[in-house]
Parts: sequence; structure tokens; C-alpha cells
Amino acid sequence: MTREYVATGPAVDANLFRHVVGHLASGVTVVTTRHDDRDHGMTASSVTSLSMDPPMMLACVNNAVPTATAIARSGRYTVNVLGRDHGDLAYQFAGPRPDKFAGVRIDRGGADVPMLAEAIAALECEVTEQVVGGTHSIFLGHVVAATAREGSPLTYFRGDFGRFEFERNDGAYQQARDMVLSRVFGPGEIITVDHLAERLDGDRARAFYALTRLAADGLVLRDRERGYVIASFDVRTSDATFDARLAIELGVIDLVVGRVDRPRLANARRHLDEMSRCLVGDQFLDFQAYLDANYAFHEAIVALAGNSLLTEAFSSLSIKNVMTRSFGITAESSASFLTVQRDLLVALENDDAGAARASARAYCELAKARARQLLTLTGGKV
Ligand SMILES: Cc1cc2nc3c(=O)[nH]c(=O)nc-3n(C[C@H](O)[C@H](O)[C@H](O)COP(=O)(O)O)c2cc1C
Repeated sequence: MTREYVATGPAVDANLFRHVVGHLASGVTVVTTRHDDRDHGMTASSVTSLSMDPPMMLACVNNAVPTATAIARSGRYTVNVLGRDHGDLAYQFAGPRPDKFAGVRIDRGGADVPMLAEAIAALECEVTEQVVGGTHSIFLGHVVAATAREGSPLTYFRGDFGRFEFERNDGAYQQARDMVLSRVFGPGEIITVDHLAERLDGDRARAFYALTRLAADGLVLRDRERGYVIASFDVRTSDATFDARLAIELGVIDLVVGRVDRPRLANARRHLDEMSRCLVGDQFLDFQAYLDANYAFHEAIVALAGNSLLTEAFSSLSIKNVMTRSFGITAESSASFLTVQRDLLVALENDDAGAARASARAYCELAKARARQLLTLTGGKV
């Protein structure tokens, strides 16, 4: 529903407005689209999330720039969130030039829309409405796919680029995380902000920040009645989690084989390549980076179905928690994890549903067996 109002007051002076509104800090994105076999991309800071259910974004674009026309005609756009070191990309996409994508590494999303490979997050949107406001159009977008990786964002404030810094540093979170992983707090134990603050340096705000991040990792749960509770983890939880992921992936294989979205599959391959840089031989060189790449790989496989409910179900599994508490306790691993995941990808690339199913099953069995082995080493519960 669109409701119109008529402004009656006199408008604030334009220069004053420009100066004052510059105090509203924002992130920086490059909004991309593809129309008539041409890629378009523009730096945009007037981009924000609009609704969670359904997942929606909005992007405000000057009607005078070619990207506005391209978005309106293609009915799609992708928001690429720039990282702290991407000031050069922001400048490159901020002016009208024919070779905007020169030297920029890109992947392809749905409908072949270019995605900046270096972006720290990307949201693929289908336009549901175009609302004109003054010189600009607001493109409301239904989010059909979203990915993010570790990284700090580029920011924009009073006409200049800067960096974002958490007021509370990461030290408290790392300390609290070590405590949970080394079982200073047991599974099912309630952990209050005061309690954690006592164990850290007495600062409640730092403790609160740490708990929020632990909850995002799935290491602690937010219980309506009891507050923060340490998530329990045992063989049953591990088996159930890997089985649930397998069930989702088998469903996705059945849905997509024969009509796999190639650019999305190419994204999955990029994550697999990243995994193989972090797991060399039978050793994790960087477990955290492996974990991020592994998560992104399986998320990309699930995203092939283009079904936000499946993606949501996948993200609710707390896979990272399960993997951190099992594979993450030692640098030792096995190269066979990479082999079966590569088999899965190749089977999807070859439209071979039988081979893809077999590889997904093999990977699940391998993960369950390894988690079981590690849990036995640590006394059955972590
Ligand atoms: C930091 C920054 C933020 C910007 N944000 C927006 C924005 O939100 N909307 C917009 O229409 N233009 C914005 N621009 C300007 C566009 O990037 C610029 O007009 C660009 O040339 C449009 O691309 P095009 O000419 O290829 O369509 C911004 C520029 C900068 C440097």
C-alpha cells in the first residue's frame, strides 16, 4: 500500500541539509545489476534493510544515473557491502565511466548479476516496488540470496571514508569463548552478565557484548525464562545436526540437478578453494578460516534451491557451534573431508544426482565419525 502526504512547511536550506545529513554515518555498498547484456554498478550509501519477514532491502538511487534505469528494467539488484580497505572500489564505482568493472574480481549471482568477489557481504534482490521520492527512486527488493564473510566494513561520514571500530574490543569475547570451549562453564549452565563480568574484568558492557557474540556463534542459547544458557553438545547433538544438514542437502540436490544455477555453483567452488587453502594434508592451517569457508560452501549449495525457507533452516542448525566444539579442538584433521566435498561439487557441476547424493551422504558419515572420535577423546561431552 502506498499512502501519499503533502508537505506544508517550508523546506530547510539545501546547503544546511547537506551539511547536517552528512552526520548520519553509513556503510558503503556497490549496487550492481545487469541489463541488456551489460553490467552496471554504482557506489551507494543510501541502502538499508527494510523488513525481516519477508526479507527486504531498499536502495535509493538517483533517477538521472544509468544504473537507475538498468535496475528498473532488469528488476534485480545486488547490494555488495564494501570492506574497510575498499575505498578505491568505492571511488571506482562513484563516477560515470564505461569501464567501471576494470580490474574488479567478480562472481555471478542469479540472472548473471555481477557480485564483487571482495565484498564482505552480498544481498541479491528482486525488485518488488519502485517508489519515486524527489530526484531519487527507492527500489524495494525482496532478498533471494545473501552471503557474508568475516570482515570489517568501510564507513562514510561527513563526506569522507572511515573505518568501523567496536567500542568493546574483541578480547572479552575471545576470553569468554575460550572459557566455553575449555568447559569452564558446563553444558546447560546458566550464565548471567554479572557472572561473566566477574570472570572477565568486571565490566558488564564487555560481558554483555561477549555473550551476544557467543549467542550468534550458537555456543550459548538465549532461553526466554532462564536467560543465557551454555549450549550442550554430545554425540546425539552432533549426529542430529549433521543428519539435518544432509537431509536439507539431499532435498536441494533433488530440486536442482538438471537446472543448477551455474554462477551460484561457481561461488561454491570459490569457497571450496578457500577451504583447501586452510586444510593442507591432514592439518588445519587456520581452523576459523576453514570453518567460515566450509559454512559458506554448504550455504551456497543450499542456496542453489533459491528457497529462503531452506536457507533459514540451514542457518538454524548451529553448524559452526558443532564444528567448533568437535573439529575445532585440534589442528589435526583429514584431507578426505576436502575430497568428498569436491566430489559433491563436481557431481553437481555434471548434473549427476546419484553421485551428488552419494557424496553428500559420505561427507555426513565422515563428519559424524570424526566428531564422535573427538568427543570420545574429550570424555563424551564438550
Ligand atoms: C560514498 C558515496 C555514496 C553514494 N551513495 C549514493 C546513493 O545512495 N544513491 C545514489 O543515487 N548515488 C550515490 N552516490 C553517487 C553514485 O555512486 C554516482 O552517481 C555514480 O556515478 C552512479 O553510477 P552510474 O553513473 O554508473 O549509474 C554515492 C557516491 C558516493 C561516493
